[in-house]
Amino acid sequence: MMIVKTIGEIRDLVKGWRDEGFSVGFVPTMGALHEGHKSLMERAMAENDRVITSIFVNPTQFGPDEDFEAYPRDLAKDGALCDQVGVHAVFAPDAQELYLSDKCTTVHISGLTDVLCGSKRPGHFDGVCLVVSKFFNIIGPDKAYFGQKDAQQVAVMKRLVRDMNFEVEIISCPIVREEDGLAISSRNVYLSEEERKAAQVLNRSLKMAKSVLEQGERNAPILKAAILSCIIQEPMAKIDYVEVVDKENLESINGEIKNNVLIPIAVYIGKTRLIDNITFEV
Ligand code: PAJ
Repeated sequence: MMIVKTIGEIRDLVKGWRDEGFSVGFVPTMGALHEGHKSLMERAMAENDRVITSIFVNPTQFGPDEDFEAYPRDLAKDGALCDQVGVHAVFAPDAQELYLSDKCTTVHISGLTDVLCGSKRPGHFDGVCLVVSKFFNIIGPDKAYFGQKDAQQVAVMKRLVRDMNFEVEIISCPIVREEDGLAISSRNVYLSEEERKAAQVLNRSLKMAKSVLEQGERNAPILKAAILSCIIQEPMAKIDYVEVVDKENLESINGEIKNNVLIPIAVYIGKTRLIDNITFEV
């Protein structure tokens, strides 16, 4: 497996593969790789002749008070995991390789990014859209793999591809969880043992919501209230948001649920902000 640092080299590599008629899958990540990332890479391996994983802690998607500096980085360990999965190349550019100091282009998707995490993290999705657009232009993959863990990111990526005519298919992959139900995240390492236990409340509240939906409840405010009252029972939890939205356009549902629904939540456990969600087909 190759670790490629420059745009020129990765372009040459992909060109060689294209000349041989290979399909190319792409898994963008910020490193600190875990079972969630691994599941994306394995899916990409199963569906493409060649697979590239990018490892890049993207500065443009972090707010000024967020954890850009503290974000866990371990290229040697990440490289070993990629090697184990069998991906063909890791693209790990330096920030200077990707962003020139006088860059002045932004990629902004309105509406979809004004809600949920977008409203709590201004500029975050602009940074994600910018870096992913650059990767799509540099690599030109056939398929790109994203986790449903970041459900809003998946919806935004699909819109980016549609609106910008990128020739890539966005594949959404299921959430991978710890044994106790906590969605695996690179940020889980910030949690103390006690916080780690308290964090189970996210999945617990969503599982409860799913069973309420399965029993036939279709009233969005009732569901939302049930989730809120479950989370507030955990003293270490501070709710950022709990929403019931349309799965495609992320518009809030304030009455009866009629279409496929997404229930995304964001909760602080101590200083760590965790997200989780469920979807339900109506
Ligand atoms: P990162 O947080 O590293 O996540 C990379 C991919 O792994 C994302 O598509 C995310 O949804 C997926 N992922 C993370 N945890 C998962 C889990 N428990 N189950 C399934 N998939 C999971 O998301 C980003 O990086 C960045 O925004 C990026 C797209 C790379 C742009 O910089």
